Amino acid sequence: MKKRVFSGVQPSGALTLGNYLGAIRNFVELQHEADCFFCVVDLHSLTVPQDPVALKENIKNTARLFVAAGIDPEVSTIFVQSQVPAHAELSWLLECQTYLGELRRMTQFKDKAKKQEVVTTGLLTYPVLMAADILLYNTDQVPVGEDQKQHLELTRDLAVRINNRFQEEVFKVPEPYIPPRNKGGRIMSLTNPAEKMSKSSPNPKSYIALLDPPEVIKKKIMSAVTDSEAVIRYDEETKPAISNLLVIYSLCSGQSIEDITKQYAGVGYGQFKKDLAELVAETLRPLQEKVKELSAPGVIERILEAGAEKARAAAAPHLRRFQEKLGIR
Ligand code: AQP
Repeated sequence: MKKRVFSGVQPSGALTLGNYLGAIRNFVELQHEADCFFCVVDLHSLTVPQDPVALKENIKNTARLFVAAGIDPEVSTIFVQSQVPAHAELSWLLECQTYLGELRRMTQFKDKAKKQEVVTTGLLTYPVLMAADILLYNTDQVPVGEDQKQHLELTRDLAVRINNRFQEEVFKVPEPYIPPRNKGGRIMSLTNPAEKMSKSSPNPKSYIALLDPPEVIKKKIMSAVTDSEAVIRYDEETKPAISNLLVIYSLCSGQSIEDITKQYAGVGYGQFKKDLAELVAETLRPLQEKVKELSAPGVIERILEAGAEKARAAAAPHLRRFQEKLGIR
């Protein structure tokens, strides 16, 4: 039997090159070897304020980008989280198995809470909803970027805790699939290489959105911070900005970082950035064209309806099983 893969992306803005290189690109590769469920996790995006009109569009655009990036809806299940009520139901049941201290320790919660005027309970319990997303599908493997590692550990802890309590496998314990940094596990901000590239950043210069036109990509890359050494070499510690640009170059070109470094020996940052901008624009061009095709009325809606139906059917037995174990069914 094929292994089961689940992963989600929040429609909390325009998807970035970080989302693509760290996660979506790997979804595309996995779909031929696994039974894949890829979800637009709209409920997660509500943990911080969203404009309802923009959110509605972002949900559809995120799904369009899945398909445009190469996820085949005939092969993988693509759906929207809120269209499968079992996610929210299981999340509540799991919350009742989760300790407050576990959630308070989450670094993403601490980082995001600092940036909010008011902190909602949803921001704190977000990792439990993520655990529900994953456990609901009897998932073997979860392809995510490095920032989700801690949340996945909680998912595994919850599955183990519940299995121990009932002395049998109620939930499968999923494995993470996280690329190393030099393979896109953590693409950094263009304006601050100490922070990851994020779609909800207030500074659009910090990220490349997958739908940015070539001239915008060029401007953003040309203005990306570097360092004063003027040598193109990979060193995460002492040259985080250039190292980040090298990772992007490597993943977009398929060349190794070593080869790129040799190729640019003695060449200035300006030329390197110019070439990188063209490379990124070229990489995103087919995806952007495909999104246009998928924007015809009804196209993505039909894909999402079919996906939700498949997801509801796949999730139901796993929710029911836990409800029975708990004595509420
Ligand atoms: N910078 C990144 N580098 C590598 N992978 C990344 N991911 C996100 N940013 C990077 C991975 O993309 C997938 C979808 O992420 P998400 O939308 O669920 O939420 P996130 O991780 O919080 O991503 P963002 O872009 O930073 O969203 P906001 O700004 O709304 O919080 C995940 O697999 C993630 O690891």
